[in-house]
Amino acid sequence: MTIVAGEGAAVFDDSGHRYVDALASLWFCQVGHGRAEIADAVRAQLETLEAFHTFDMFTNEPAERFCERIAELAPMAGARVFLVNSGSEAVDSALKLARLSSSLRGEPDRQLIVSRRHAYHGVTYGGMSVQGLPANQEGFGELVPGICTVDHNELDDLQQVFADHGPHIAAVITEPVMGAGGVHPPPEGYLAVLHELCDRHGALMIMDEVVCGFGRLGQWWGSDRFGVQPDLVTFAKGCTSGYQPLGGVIVGTRVRELIEADPSFVLRTGHTYSGHPASCTAGLANIDIIERENLLARAHRIGSMLGPALSALVDEGLAVQARGQEGIWALQLDEATPAADIRDRMLRGGVIARPLGSSTIALCPPLVIGDEDINLIIGALRDAIEARH
Ligand SMILES: Cc1ncc(COP(=O)(O)O)c(C=O)c1O
Repeated sequence: MTIVAGEGAAVFDDSGHRYVDALASLWFCQVGHGRAEIADAVRAQLETLEAFHTFDMFTNEPAERFCERIAELAPMAGARVFLVNSGSEAVDSALKLARLSSSLRGEPDRQLIVSRRHAYHGVTYGGMSVQGLPANQEGFGELVPGICTVDHNELDDLQQVFADHGPHIAAVITEPVMGAGGVHPPPEGYLAVLHELCDRHGALMIMDEVVCGFGRLGQWWGSDRFGVQPDLVTFAKGCTSGYQPLGGVIVGTRVRELIEADPSFVLRTGHTYSGHPASCTAGLANIDIIERENLLARAHRIGSMLGPALSALVDEGLAVQARGQEGIWALQLDEATPAADIRDRMLRGGVIARPLGSSTIALCPPLVIGDEDINLIIGALRDAIEARH
C-alpha cells in the first residue's frame, strides 16, 4: 500500500481511500498528520541553516532550545539532554552511558544490563541484545555480552537477579508500558520496586520512553505516570511526531555528575546528525502543539473509549485479553483468529491497525483523534472479529 497524504488522524492511499491511522503510523504521530505549522518551521530553519554538526565546541540554536525544553519537561530534576536520530540510537547511547558511569565510578566490573521479557528496545546491536523478544535476535550472530533478561511481571525474578548479581548490575532498562512486545502495562507497584532495587544496589534505571513519552500515557512521560525518577530516559518517535527523525537521552544528575566531574573528559560517542537543527525545530513546534492543544488530556479520552470497547469483546468471548492504558492498547485474539487476517479486514473497513506476533492487534492512534474516528476503529475491529466467528 502506498500512502501519499495525511490529515489529522487519517492517511490516504494512492487511490484516494481514507484510512484511520490506528497506530499513529508506527507509534509516533502524536499531533496527527499534515501539520503545515511544523513543515513551515522546518522549511524556515533549512533556509537559515540546514545543518551544522554539534561536535567539539559547536552547537546551534534549535538544538539548544530543544534540549532546554526537554530538560524542563523531564521526569527528573537537573537533567541534560544528549541528542541522536532514532530510538535505537537513544537506547544504545543510554547503555553506553550506563556502562561508562561504572567505569568513571571506578567500578569497571559493574557491566551487567538487566532487561525484561517482551521488551522491545530497537534494532542496533545494543538495543537488539537487550530486548526480550528472541525472534528478533535470531540469525544475527553473537549478541552484546553482559545482558540478563528477567520475567516481565514477576518481581521475584527481578529480586533474585539483584540478590545474585547486585554489585555487577550497571543498569536495568525498561519501558513504562511495553509497546511493540505486545502492550504490557507493568503490574501494580512493579516499577516503584524496580527503582528501589536499583537505588539500593547502586544500579542505574533506564526508562525507555520511545513509545510512552510525549503524552501517550496522559502525562509527558510514563515515568511521571508511574511516579518514578529514572537516571536515564530514552525518547524518539513522539518527540517530533515523525516530522523529522530525532531522538535522545535525558541524563539525570547521577550520570551527569560523573561525566562532568573532570572538565577535560571527552564523551567519545555521538552521531553526524546529532542535534540536527531541522529535526530540533520540528521537535520544538511539536511540543508547542502538544501544549497548546492540551493533547495529554486526549490520551485519557482515547483510553476511556478503547478500554471498555476492547473489554466488551473479551466479555463476549470474541477475544482473549484486552491490555493497555490511556492512549496505547492491544487486543489478544484467540488462536483461531490470526492477527494478520484481522488487520486485512480492518483495512477493508478503512482502518490501519498493526498485528503484533500472530495473535495480537495493537491500537495507539494519534492523540488528536476525534471520537468519530475512535468509533470507526472500534467498529472495524468488531466487524473483522465477528466475520471470523
Ligand atoms: C520502546 C522502544 N525503544 C526503542 C525503539 C527503537 O526506535 P527506532 O525504531 O526509532 O530505532 C522502539 C521502536 O519501536 C521502541 O518501541
